[in-house]
Amino acid sequence: MKRYEFLTVLGASAGTVIFAPFLASCSKDITATSDPIPSGASGVDFTLDLTQAANAPLLTNGGSLVKSGIIVAKTSGGVYVAVAAACTHEGANVVFDSANSKFHCPNHGSNFGTNGSLLNGPATTALKLYNTQLTGTSLRVFA
Ligand code: FES
Repeated sequence: MKRYEFLTVLGASAGTVIFAPFLASCSKDITATSDPIPSGASGVDFTLDLTQAANAPLLTNGGSLVKSGIIVAKTSGGVYVAVAAACTHEGANVVFDSANSKFHCPNHGSNFGTNGSLLNGPATTALKLYNTQLTGTSLRVFA
């Protein structure tokens, strides 16, 4: 190999080593700023039997559970609320923070009110709100 060819190969290799991490971080930035994921399914209509053990968290104020992509919670005041579980930022499941009466995304820290309204980002849109209707021990969740 001639000296010129050797230096050309060496330069290409060094460039790859130096710029590869920057290229990787650029692709992460593009993902992080992509459009929000559509929030909430349509045509939702299901009923939770509150006598079933799987639904027991909803018997306690502050309890919650996720069913069919919807997080259903009983607020500290005893009101049932239901919103889309997938955060509108990048789709992580939100959790119910009963002490602060809000839904919190543990992924990047977005917060949403109990009606799904956006309290703070990085999410830019609200969670879809669903209706709840308690009849005896049956809790209906519907669009
Ligand atoms: S996924 Fe990023 S704040 Fe929820």
